[in-house]
Amino acid sequence: MVVYLDHAATSPIRPEVLECYTQHLSLVGNPSSVHSSGQLARKALEEAREQVANAIGANRNEVIFTSGGTESDNLAIKGLFWARNKDASRPLIVSAATEHHAVIDPIDWLEKEQGAEAVWVPVDERGVVDLVWLKEFLTNNHERVALISLMWANNETGVITDINEVVELAKTFDIPVHSDAVAAFGHISINFAQTGLTAMSITAHKVGGPVGVGALVVARSAKLTSLVHGGGQERAMRSGTMNAAGAKAFGLACELAVSILDSHRAHTVILRDRLVEGVLKLVPTARFSRADAPGLPDNAHFTFAGCSGDSLLFLLDQAGVCVSNGSACQAGVTAASHVLLAMGRDESEASGCLRMTFSHTNTIEDVDAFLAALPQAHASAHRAGYTSS
Ligand SMILES: Cc1ncc(COP(=O)(O)O)c(C=O)c1O
Repeated sequence: MVVYLDHAATSPIRPEVLECYTQHLSLVGNPSSVHSSGQLARKALEEAREQVANAIGANRNEVIFTSGGTESDNLAIKGLFWARNKDASRPLIVSAATEHHAVIDPIDWLEKEQGAEAVWVPVDERGVVDLVWLKEFLTNNHERVALISLMWANNETGVITDINEVVELAKTFDIPVHSDAVAAFGHISINFAQTGLTAMSITAHKVGGPVGVGALVVARSAKLTSLVHGGGQERAMRSGTMNAAGAKAFGLACELAVSILDSHRAHTVILRDRLVEGVLKLVPTARFSRADAPGLPDNAHFTFAGCSGDSLLFLLDQAGVCVSNGSACQAGVTAASHVLLAMGRDESEASGCLRMTFSHTNTIEDVDAFLAALPQAHASAHRAGYTSS
């Protein structure tokens, strides 16, 4: 039997969500059609919007359905940049080098093609963003800043950013803040309204929903230029016929994820702590990446000196345990983790990492299966050194 400890890459669709999804796939109408079939599809879509909004503490009008986290991040970053830098007076985009590529790459693209200037806030060796530095930077440069984009929780190390503090700093200068909450939502409590964020990205497939649907939550007062133009759906921010079935499945997944948030935390913390303790006992040279920084309850990320993360991953997979060596969203490209490099680790350490992430469906036996497989995988990977071939 396969032990799945890679829920941060994607978490299996929940049975209730699968049933809801397949049921709604046979909906006939286009939600924009005025006839009764269209109105049935519209009803499902709007119910879903309400479910998502309730799960994240937002107003239903603030939920813009998208195809997932990557699109939401692109829409937020390019959309806010274009809206705020029309006269080229605000070229600065403030973010961190530990962000997901769905944030870093649009910023790089805007820098190369559209006159943006990226500003990367430093992080410490635990991956925590330096908010003292940010405050000073904003004090001196706020007039030229288009937006700030900082993730709520890091998808590799699980480190949590103090988003309330970031928004507080930005508010003084009236700068919009986007947060990629893809890794945080469904794992810790999220309240969009309470933070005062301008925009926030979430995706369904990390919370037991289907792949290919997500949302950008956009404050009602926000001004944001659309990436795509067409029928003007979704407050004209995301044209295209709406995916009522996907939205409905996402809505239910959000509802379920939030309804078990406390028990999820209580359960996964036990699994995570058992795993962390076990790893450090079995491999004393292993390093728990975020150290004492605040982190997600269901994420354990380590570096293993002298090993390639790819080798470890492959050997553990052969032993029937699925884990990750970082972000699954990098299309199978083997590279040192840009997150660990940004945290000041050298190339070899940044290439020797493993991430184990849990859901409420994991058990103590899953952790023990991982710990049973680790010593041999580690010994073989260590013999092979840094290369995975
Ligand atoms: C933090 C973060 N942002 C964005 C994404 C991209 O989301 P999606 O796969 O829905 O496009 C991911 C996916 O792993 C992620 O972890």
